[in-house]
Amino acid sequence: MGLDGKRVVVVGGTSGIGFGVARAALAAGASEVVVASRSRERVAAAVARLEAPGRARGIATDATVEGDVAALFAAVGEVDHVVMTCAELRWQPIAELAVDDAMATLRSKLLAGLLLAKHGAPRLRAGGSLTLTTGVATDRPNAGGALVSLCNGGLEGLARQLAVELAPIRVNALSPGIVDTELWDGIAGDEKAARLAGIGGRMLARRVGSPDDLARAALFLMESGFVTGETLHVDGGYRLV
Ligand SMILES: NC(=O)c1ccc[n+]([C@@H]2O[C@H](COP(=O)([O-])OP(=O)(O)OC[C@H]3O[C@@H](n4cnc5c(N)ncnc54)[C@H](OP(=O)(O)O)[C@@H]3O)[C@@H](O)[C@H]2O)c1
Repeated sequence: MGLDGKRVVVVGGTSGIGFGVARAALAAGASEVVVASRSRERVAAAVARLEAPGRARGIATDATVEGDVAALFAAVGEVDHVVMTCAELRWQPIAELAVDDAMATLRSKLLAGLLLAKHGAPRLRAGGSLTLTTGVATDRPNAGGALVSLCNGGLEGLARQLAVELAPIRVNALSPGIVDTELWDGIAGDEKAARLAGIGGRMLARRVGSPDDLARAALFLMESGFVTGETLHVDGGYRLV
């Protein structure tokens, strides 16, 4: 199996795409998968849902707090792959931009990406990789999406930059389209199913993505020793419609 004996850390791994990545890494033979996010309850629940005693571990971590990120990697030690899926996103028209919201969003993706690279890279073994999750908003902008678009574009640039600076560690960006995750509970509430069905119908794939779709792509980036500085779009063709 592709990740036989490998150790994988998924920051944001207690929900949505990150949880899908954690589950897929275990299925691909990883010897240990560590899921990290802020909420202790979510961390414990995710470890239980992974149903892999002795191979799945959780560590409560706020990826925007340098001490937390340093402590995470000190606790984990040597690792083969780090995947970042954490995000706390706010949408607002630029005319209504609230600085606190802006900083929360920027910190959750851009600052987190920088801190995970700073403290994660020294722990990565030969052949290791860092994957930063970006998103379709940067290629297919929507009104109100300035913060999200900025973060995703910034992370894609950061992945290319870090691929050069940290080589031979590989650094890539994974750009999801619209994916059915818990993120949409907050955006659409009770209308989630209808909203996602409507968006999915307009996609070339005629459906929205699942965490498994993105997990397959994340595994490809972890396992592909000749892929670095790349942005992998997994969006059902959403950029084209
Ligand atoms: N779903 C989509 O349609 C879609 C589309 C394009 C791009 N994306 C991108 O894909 C990534 C994953 O999205 P998702 O849909 O899987 O989101 P999700 O289900 O909301 O999961 C987000 C995860 O991040 C964690 N998190 C948030 N802030 C954190 C912080 N400061 N430190 C550590 N963990 C933190 C959350 O747990 P805690 O609350 O416990 O911290 C949660 O585990 C994000 O980067 C998102 O922008 C998603």
